[in-house]
Amino acid sequence: MSMRRSTVSAAFFFLILILQLVYFMGTSTVGGVVSPTNTSSAVLITVDQSGKGDFQRIQDAIDAVPPNFSKQVFISINPGVYRERVVVPKEKPWIILSGANETTTIITWSGRWDTLQSTTLSIWASNFVGRYLTIQNTYGPGSQALAVSVFGDSVSFYACRMLSYQDTLYDMSGRHYYHNCYIEGATDFIFGNALSLFEKCHIHSISKNGGAITAQKRSSSDENTGYSFLACKLTGERPRSVILGRPWGPYSRVVYAYTYMSNAILPQGWSDWHNATRQRTAYYGEYKCYGSGSRSSRRVKWSHQLTSDEAMPFINKSMINGSDWLRPLPTHFMKADFPLVPRKMDE
Ligand SMILES: *[C@@H]1O[C@H](CO)[C@@H](O)[C@H](O)[C@H]1NC(C)=O
Ligand SMILES: *[C@@H]1O[C@H](CO)[C@@H](O)[C@H](O)[C@H]1NC(C)=O
Ligand SMILES: *[C@@H]1O[C@H](CO)[C@@H](O)[C@H](O)[C@H]1NC(C)=O
Ligand SMILES: *[C@@H]1O[C@H](CO)[C@@H](O)[C@H](O)[C@H]1NC(C)=O
Ligand SMILES: *[C@@H]1O[C@H](CO)[C@@H](O)[C@H](O)[C@H]1NC(C)=O
Ligand SMILES: *[C@@H]1O[C@H](CO)[C@@H](O)[C@H](O)[C@H]1NC(C)=O
Repeated sequence: MSMRRSTVSAAFFFLILILQLVYFMGTSTVGGVVSPTNTSSAVLITVDQSGKGDFQRIQDAIDAVPPNFSKQVFISINPGVYRERVVVPKEKPWIILSGANETTTIITWSGRWDTLQSTTLSIWASNFVGRYLTIQNTYGPGSQALAVSVFGDSVSFYACRMLSYQDTLYDMSGRHYYHNCYIEGATDFIFGNALSLFEKCHIHSISKNGGAITAQKRSSSDENTGYSFLACKLTGERPRSVILGRPWGPYSRVVYAYTYMSNAILPQGWSDWHNATRQRTAYYGEYKCYGSGSRSSRRVKWSHQLTSDEAMPFINKSMINGSDWLRPLPTHFMKADFPLVPRKMDE
């Protein structure tokens, strides 16, 4: 690489960094939601496998936070492969779980879904933020095997990798924002009845035979739930092996906008899950997508190529009222004013 090119690319990299910083800091103001928390500051707890932090296990750090604690808690997780199942209960809102880097801070488990208890990371709390983490379920084919379950409202993930085979991300209830995440699975691997915006995410299918990316569950026209994929990238292991979605609930609603679709996407695009009555109520749309998998000529007739007016409600953060609850990272950190010992919920 010549001197000039490396200078240019360094300048470019720097510019991107600044833009990302501005973007990230500018995404959010806290308004509307009444909260006891001063979101510009947080209690800092560190987790380190080798014993150099406050805790060696992530769950122990979460368990130490008092229920209904009035401050934001930033749990910083040093690199390591954390073999544990992590639950953030309802009584622990305003937790930020932050890895060092999504390729080096890994939470891994191998649960099979008889109950939800097998999910690697479950979020029942509101106002949770996850960043720079790999969350995986290594069970593989043969059963539902959830990596992440999200039930809380106002939950966001930045630069996280979510990996499994069947049913990777149970995106069940509340308003959620996923930014710059990598989500991998084989079938129905983003499913549930939340209202979620996925922005600049890479969705990768490892299906061999027509597995669906989404199984959104909206069950009536009154429910304001659905998934929107904005400026995402869809890829797969094999050409023509993936569908965009199928209706778990009759009013299932999914939109892809400004999204790259590789040739992994099947020409028909969508499935009615062997129930033609759902063709009348499911709402599946595409807007300004590109790539060979986005060609619309052979799409199922009951899906929609959206007009700009139709696409409008799905293509920015107002879809999830993001300005009411997305927030910048805290800038001031303080020591815990509670004992740094795991405390079980029922104690
Ligand atoms: C919030 O915390 C920051 C940093 O500790 C402090 O400067 C600011 O005054 C606090 N705001 C309120 C309203 O307490
Ligand atoms: C936490 O707050 C919720 C809702 O306000 C309340 O129902 C619950 O009892 C509280 N839990 C504890 C342990 O204080
Ligand atoms: C994590 O590390 C990888 C590999 O070094 C790098 O490409 C990526 O940008 C890092 N992510 C963050 C958020 O720093
Ligand atoms: C098809 O979907 C409709 C609407 O959700 C439902 O009422 C019906 O029971 C479904 N049919 C079958 C065979 O599952
Ligand atoms: C976001 O979308 C809404 C429609 O849902 C629109 O009214 C608003 O102007 C858009 N905001 C931006 C910044 O584009
Ligand atoms: C967004 O905010 C408006 C105005 O407060 C409210 O009517 C609407 O229900 C909210 N939507 C969501 C999805 O939170």
